[in-house]
Amino acid sequence: MSAATTVEDILGREALSALRRPIAQSSGLPGAAYTSDEFFRLEQKRLFPRTWMCIAFASDVPQPGNAIPLMAAGIPIILVRDRKGDIRVFHNVCRHRAAMIVTKPCQGLKQFTCPYHAWAYDLDGRLKAVPYFDGTKDGHSKLPLDLSKLGLVPVRAAVWHHWVFINLDGNAAPFAEHVRPLDDLINGADLSATRIGHREDWEWRGNWKMQNDNWETYHHIWVHKNVFTKMSDDLDLKTGEPIAEPIPLGTVVTLKRRGDQDFYPSAGNLPLIPFPEGKKRVRCTSVVFPNMTLTLQSDHLASVIADPLAADRTISKMGYFFVGDAATDPAFAAQRQRTLARWLGPTGQIGDRGGIRSQDMEIWEQQQIARRSPVADQIVFSPVWEKNVHHFQNMVVDVMSAPSNH
Ligand code: FES
Ligand SMILES: [Fe+2]
Repeated sequence: MSAATTVEDILGREALSALRRPIAQSSGLPGAAYTSDEFFRLEQKRLFPRTWMCIAFASDVPQPGNAIPLMAAGIPIILVRDRKGDIRVFHNVCRHRAAMIVTKPCQGLKQFTCPYHAWAYDLDGRLKAVPYFDGTKDGHSKLPLDLSKLGLVPVRAAVWHHWVFINLDGNAAPFAEHVRPLDDLINGADLSATRIGHREDWEWRGNWKMQNDNWETYHHIWVHKNVFTKMSDDLDLKTGEPIAEPIPLGTVVTLKRRGDQDFYPSAGNLPLIPFPEGKKRVRCTSVVFPNMTLTLQSDHLASVIADPLAADRTISKMGYFFVGDAATDPAFAAQRQRTLARWLGPTGQIGDRGGIRSQDMEIWEQQQIARRSPVADQIVFSPVWEKNVHHFQNMVVDVMSAPSNH
């Protein structure tokens, strides 16, 4: 890929203008956006670094001294909870000769020690020791080495409730603006009352964008037959409108239930997520551009962070959150299990096609194969159900086509 490669070079001008037309006349992203390695590399360069990508759940580093290595847009980073308990993100690259500092999940760290020549960094990134660098024990008494300039390089990061986001190029709008549509949408839901109850990663053979292309309820009664049993679960047969209204809101797309029902009935008497006095409970399921999803039911949160590994491989990092002790108390184990079984299937395995997640992934894996066909360049959207998909796909190409802002 040359430096000058653009989205238009890969997808063609015609495909971009077809995507940008009003939904009823538009055609969706062509197959190459899902199958081409070149497009995947362009996303790593011109999509993820420019926005706020979600990289982890805060609970992935629960205690001070916990650190994990991650890849974000092809770049190695460290997620750490420092000694004060604050989450920090650094480039996982030693300032001496670019060894990787953290290579596996760690606990009880007091400092980072580079495995190559033992340069040591505090968990807040400051370089503390460069042993024998200049032949002396402290490594910098003979040579004028300014340790204060050689700390680990921080990545711009934001923690929103249970989620950690990063902006790799440092130029995105403030995170609060990025997440504001979701903040407004959830109407004060007290997410801080929820705690992690289940965490799991599933790898599947498809492009990460399929997760967000799936933010419609049109497929419910065919793909999730065991949960959504009749069309009237998802469509108001009198008005012809979906019961979960698709609402594109800039950096967020959502499906918001119109009535007082959850997406599906809850699994028992789990405690409800609190809302402030006088504020109406909201049920919605949203994508925060580009790669995080959050489903807000009455009694739990279900979230997925898509971790794109290749054009045709993605890890879904899944987190399920319940209110207070209901997240961990054995007294609620059966109810949690019933809730999780809806999402993950009765066995909780990716091959178990009985859960909402695994049923969706099966479709996406097959869609990934179909996307190789030239016929897959012609995609038709339903203006009733698929506004979110049209919006998301336009956002992908808009971000990637924007002029460089630095
Ligand atoms: S590369 Fe890290 S100490 Fe040498
Ligand atoms: Fe689905």
